[in-house]
Amino acid sequence: MSQLTVQHLTMRFGDKLIQKDIDFSVASGTIFAIMGGSGCGKSTLLKHMIGLLTPAEGQVLVDDGDYWAATESAQRHMRQRFGVLFQSAALWTSMSVLDNVLVPLALKAPDLSSAERRDRAMELLSWVDMDAAADKLPSDLSGGMKKRAGLARAIAGEPDFLFLDEPSAGLDPISSVRLDKLITDLRDRTGAAVMIVSHELESLLSIADDGIFLDADSKQPIARGKPADLKAADDTHPTVRAFLNRQEPSS
Ligand SMILES: Nc1ncnc2c1ncn2[C@@H]1O[C@H](COP(=O)(O)OP(=O)(O)OP(=O)(O)O)[C@@H](O)[C@H]1O
Ligand SMILES: [Mg+2]
Repeated sequence: MSQLTVQHLTMRFGDKLIQKDIDFSVASGTIFAIMGGSGCGKSTLLKHMIGLLTPAEGQVLVDDGDYWAATESAQRHMRQRFGVLFQSAALWTSMSVLDNVLVPLALKAPDLSSAERRDRAMELLSWVDMDAAADKLPSDLSGGMKKRAGLARAIAGEPDFLFLDEPSAGLDPISSVRLDKLITDLRDRTGAAVMIVSHELESLLSIADDGIFLDADSKQPIARGKPADLKAADDTHPTVRAFLNRQEPSS
């Protein structure tokens, strides 16, 4: 059982407060939604959780280990348990899709032969329906294909903690439904804890087990729980209700 905990976290850029007093814990098998309007600090929170940004105050714990109090080698071990899909997909542009997936696989499974690693990478790519594009460069892919390749790379190391920043942005509605299924299948198969930032209401309401809403005005969380429950509850903060009940533009 793995667990990632954010304790009394305050995030700043210089003097600028982004969010304060963030507290939550995400255990194996949970899909946890990070919600809030544009610019409220969702991507910044993910970056604090994966060790890319240092908290102004508070802690990030991986199981019981305080990330920022840990030695460099302990931090590296923690990071090896993370899989990350950044908002921009951020594939390595000079490498083929296959090589993008092989790099984290080589880090995670150095004992596998190169043929075994290749088979595993191709299996992952076929899982996201990208095996036919294995030899392409990122510049030759559509936005949706990049996201799917980025997802294959993020999960290649069988991470205990998977961080997905806007995985469905730029996908058509059918691809978004496929992506939801990929994420829940992955959670079921590996038991990963999944932290997801998404503007796709349908997706959050159907797949997330828990979540937090970061308020841009007060710069602190104003709701905590399963998005579908927050939507239904009478005592949910009006800002959160408006967010969860908004009409999606039909496309
Ligand atoms: N490296 C940085 N230096 C200074 N300010 C930053 C930096 N990165 C982000 N910010 C600011 O921090 C705030 C939160 O940004 P962040 O990208 O986390 O928002 P977000 O909730 O992910 O928004 P979106 O939904 O548009 O992706 C914004 O005001 C942004 O301008
Ligand atoms: Mg963002």
